[in-house]
Amino acid sequence: MSGHAAPISMTSRPAGPLRGVADVPGDKSVSHRALILGALCVGETHITGLLEGEDVLATAAAMRAFGAEVERLGEGEWRVHGVGVGGFQEPEDVIDCGNAGTGARLIMGAMATSPITATFTGDASLRSRPMARVTEPLALFGARAYGRAGGRLPMTIVGASAPVPVRYALPVASAQVKSAVLLAGLNAPGETVVIERVATRDHTERMLAGFGAEIRVEETEEGRVITLTGQPELKPQRIAVPRDPSSAAFPVCAALIVPGSDVLVPGIGLNPTRAGLFATLRDMGADLAYENEREEGGEPVADLRARYSPDMQGIEVPPERAASMIDEYPILSVVAANATGETVMRGVGELRVKESDRIDAMARGLRANGVEVEEGEDWWAVTGAGPGSVAGGGLAEARLDHRIAMSFLVLGMAAQAPVRIDDGAPVATSFPVFEPLMAGLGAQIVRANR
Ligand code: S3P
Repeated sequence: MSGHAAPISMTSRPAGPLRGVADVPGDKSVSHRALILGALCVGETHITGLLEGEDVLATAAAMRAFGAEVERLGEGEWRVHGVGVGGFQEPEDVIDCGNAGTGARLIMGAMATSPITATFTGDASLRSRPMARVTEPLALFGARAYGRAGGRLPMTIVGASAPVPVRYALPVASAQVKSAVLLAGLNAPGETVVIERVATRDHTERMLAGFGAEIRVEETEEGRVITLTGQPELKPQRIAVPRDPSSAAFPVCAALIVPGSDVLVPGIGLNPTRAGLFATLRDMGADLAYENEREEGGEPVADLRARYSPDMQGIEVPPERAASMIDEYPILSVVAANATGETVMRGVGELRVKESDRIDAMARGLRANGVEVEEGEDWWAVTGAGPGSVAGGGLAEARLDHRIAMSFLVLGMAAQAPVRIDDGAPVATSFPVFEPLMAGLGAQIVRANR
């Protein structure tokens, strides 16, 4: 999986109205966690709506390597027969997490308090990403990490044989780091405490509670204080994975900028720690409605309806919203390029250490398509000249980053001339049905080397 698939150049042509129902796949964050927690309890966890993208399939393979039985029953339907907290066996080979930072970091946490050794690797993108943010707190439990310079993969983790619980204040707003510490805390005796100054996605906390762990969350002056009691006996669950708001963002944003569009995206997870993009779009003047709001599997869910919105204005995105929309800034910048005025995005330095440096990747590709972008270390600003103003006609590099690839394909749908990306293959990590789904709505994406 860490090898290179052949690049697939894609071109997105200006499209007619986008209309219809967009059934987006299951949530990537929830899917990883369902497999990992399923593997950490004795008995059978049944999952429906699992995202069958490359990232999650890599996590499924990893759970098998650590001794769990993981079986696909049908489309999105999976069964995990877990080994229990502390029951992971030592994998016989290297764990290849592909493109998935979430998979790599969460699995490192999950194995770090067992007396086993595992070596992790991934594709060129994942091998360039910082892992010290995870291995530093894991060292407090007693685990040791041996990686490349700068804490990069490939990396070997030697799990703690006598783990101690940890109290850890997150230095960066990262749900992956928080989750790695909590998963490590599962096999440490006593209470592990994680403190986060800003709330990041809380799927791990919700799911741990669902599996029967003793976990409490207090809002204090220090921030959110999460206390987990170690060595619980987790009880197997039935998990219905909600559809991914980060994937829904693409058809929603495309509908907002392509004239005449009206798209319904049903059953989207709207956990408040994930819904920042939709609040921001509404602040810009988007015609975006939540219909049929309900709760499914412990997560709030609604149908999203997005209609063409020619009157959107640029705004200053509240920086305190960053964690709740961190993966959505690339597609927001595409909407901003089609709005009127400047959209300023501050407090987003984390974008530089995602699957790619997302500020740099978007800034270059937007400029190549005639859009004005300014940037600093932890901020960027996009100036839009209103509907239909993006020239297009340029080439953008996807840099092994699914969200960059999909963002530029959406840009092309509303530009004056087609937008080309050098490689659409990474889309399969999180949204394997992106091309047929968008084509079904009326988009025109063609694979250039066909
Ligand atoms: C994720 C957390 C975020 C996000 C990533 C998924 C998760 O990363 O960007 O796509 O599932 O926990 P950070 O934890 O690095 O902020």
